[in-house]
Amino acid sequence: MKEKLESIRAAALAALDGAQSENAVEELRVRYLGRKGELTAVLRGMRDVSPEERPAMGALVNRIKEEVEAAIGETLANARAAERSQRVASERIDVTIPGRRPLLGRSHPLTQVTAELVDAFVGLGFSLAEGPEIEDDYHNFEALNFPPDHPARDMQDTLFVEGERVMRTHTSPVQIRVMESQQPPLRAIAVGATYRHDSDATHSPMFHQIEGFMVDRGITFAHLKGVLTHAVRAVFGERSAVRLRPSFFPFTEPSAELDIGCFGCGGSGGACRICKGTGWIEVLGSGMIDPNVFRAVGYDPEEYSGFAFGIGIERIAMLKYEIDDIRRFFANDLRFLSQF
Ligand code: PHE
Repeated sequence: MKEKLESIRAAALAALDGAQSENAVEELRVRYLGRKGELTAVLRGMRDVSPEERPAMGALVNRIKEEVEAAIGETLANARAAERSQRVASERIDVTIPGRRPLLGRSHPLTQVTAELVDAFVGLGFSLAEGPEIEDDYHNFEALNFPPDHPARDMQDTLFVEGERVMRTHTSPVQIRVMESQQPPLRAIAVGATYRHDSDATHSPMFHQIEGFMVDRGITFAHLKGVLTHAVRAVFGERSAVRLRPSFFPFTEPSAELDIGCFGCGGSGGACRICKGTGWIEVLGSGMIDPNVFRAVGYDPEEYSGFAFGIGIERIAMLKYEIDDIRRFFANDLRFLSQF
């Protein structure tokens, strides 16, 4: 019996030595000390031991039982500590790791160019006006001195809507709407989408313009030149060369296109592909408001004069950022948009 006890003791201690987890220790406890455990069975066998041997044997069994219990307690504590430190390690949060940067939004290049231009005009006292994108023929054409069969209507590539309406082909109808409802002196700009049946690398069916106009007594071509030079230099730099070149629009007389000195070749032309060798880049259309336009809105052309201009926003942004295809503005490609 003594040998049996010694071998149980040795086996139990060896098994506990290799036990890693709480569960494994619990299994060993059941195996040795449980109701059907090996040591428990030996204790039960005590009734067969002779009365003389019983005290010594009893003491031995108890000693071994206590020893195994103590080893179980210790192994259990170790296993718990190991499991806990493992869990702590796996749940560890490194508060010193740099945070993930949120993706920063930016304003669209067209928005940026628009803001620069609007700021320049607002700084000169111009107020903001608005008009509808679906216009009637009268405001888009007729009041702007396009007679019904005028060939200049062809230039506009009009998109027609049901009921004699058109998608406005330019922001100039806003001139008419403002002058119909207000008296001079006035100076206003109108920013918005415009539409033409035209689509290629430099034309989009939907594009944007800034219209501007100023009406008062004694407004001259010099005012036009001063205001536009200021605005264009706000976008392209204070040193930009500016020239006005005769042109034609039904609603202005005289009319002029404004060119800036080419920033690609510095105005020297040659083989420059930005200005196609001319040294100049066309940036906008302008002119003195035609007397027929004043008559249409009930202003006396003998009393008032004024200038007007229309700027293509995509065109300015393409020039400024050297963008080769207008469709990039509307493709919502973040690789493109995040460059601005
Ligand atoms: N509306 C003209 C266009 O779209 C631009 C313009 C506006 C020209 C005002 C002169 C005066 O081409």
